[in-house]
Amino acid sequence: MKITIVGSGIVGQSTGKVLKMLENDIIFYDIDSKRLDELEKNGYNVIRQLQIKGSEFVFICVPTPEKNGKLDTSIIEKTLLELSLLISNYVIFVIKSTVVPGFSDSIVKKMEKESNKKEGRDFDLIVVPEFLRHWCAVQDSMHPTKIVIGLNSSLEISEYSIKLIKELYEPIKVKKIYTERKTAEFIKLANNAFYSTRISFMNELYRICKRIHINSEKVVQAILASSEDFGTHAMEHGHAFGGACLPKDLDGLISWTKGIGYDAKLLKSVKIINEEMKECQECS
Ligand SMILES: NC(=O)c1ccc[n+]([C@@H]2O[C@H](COP(=O)([O-])OP(=O)(O)OC[C@H]3O[C@@H](n4cnc5c(N)ncnc54)[C@H](O)[C@@H]3O)[C@@H](O)[C@H]2O)c1
Repeated sequence: MKITIVGSGIVGQSTGKVLKMLENDIIFYDIDSKRLDELEKNGYNVIRQLQIKGSEFVFICVPTPEKNGKLDTSIIEKTLLELSLLISNYVIFVIKSTVVPGFSDSIVKKMEKESNKKEGRDFDLIVVPEFLRHWCAVQDSMHPTKIVIGLNSSLEISEYSIKLIKELYEPIKVKKIYTERKTAEFIKLANNAFYSTRISFMNELYRICKRIHINSEKVVQAILASSEDFGTHAMEHGHAFGGACLPKDLDGLISWTKGIGYDAKLLKSVKIINEEMKECQECS
């Protein structure tokens, strides 16, 4: 398939290179001509002026900078609006860039208004979030642990795009998770929040261990050794935790750490969230 990559940085290049290995026809575009020179020197096709005629897919891999602690999606928005004016034949836009939940549904409306084109007839927009680690980008793109594919919630509209995206990713033998666009957008952020929380949790333990002079490695290894516990509890959500041990031991640990002069902020947050879950209005 013919695929245009818009934004040829870490994500754009690794996506393009992997899709090229899978025998697609890849064309890179970027506003940075040096990036394009480098790609061209290495035998890749590039375009210096944005156009998408004849492309089955256009991958959006432009940056999402952080602005005052918020994800700034304005470059992605501007790029998609610009692209909507270039639609001639039916095309599928794939957002790889990081966006906030609801971004795609909202941008599609703006694209339709801007260009007089219609989703499902002239174009479709799919969210395939990127989970790669930047230090081994191509490797992670070639061997991802999962591929999340976020489609328009009206699946009827997306029938043709589903067929094409399935075909595109078919050669990569990994679990594909099909869901709605908004869910896919949230999965990307939730996935990284999970990693961050896990590290902060381990760091909270680490700091407690340091304070009482015990080996944190041993503690972490012992926790992770009970893999059957993860089987039971890993997926649990939607209700507060209870029982004879979890709330009691958590309370006990929080007050004990206070006694050794450590303020266990994460553990205290865990307690607060659990209390709130008991009262949760939107949970039933
Ligand atoms: N790098 C990672 O590990 C990683 C992982 C997951 C998701 N992401 C997300 O992927 C997106 C891209 O990240 P990246 O790391 O590849 O960024 P990057 O800075 O490496 O590359 C972005 C490229 O887009 C180009 N660009 C900027 N504005 C453009 C425009 N208007 N039109 C065309 N090209 C334009 C830049 O010149 C640059 O070459 C971001 O949304 C990021 O959050 C990155």
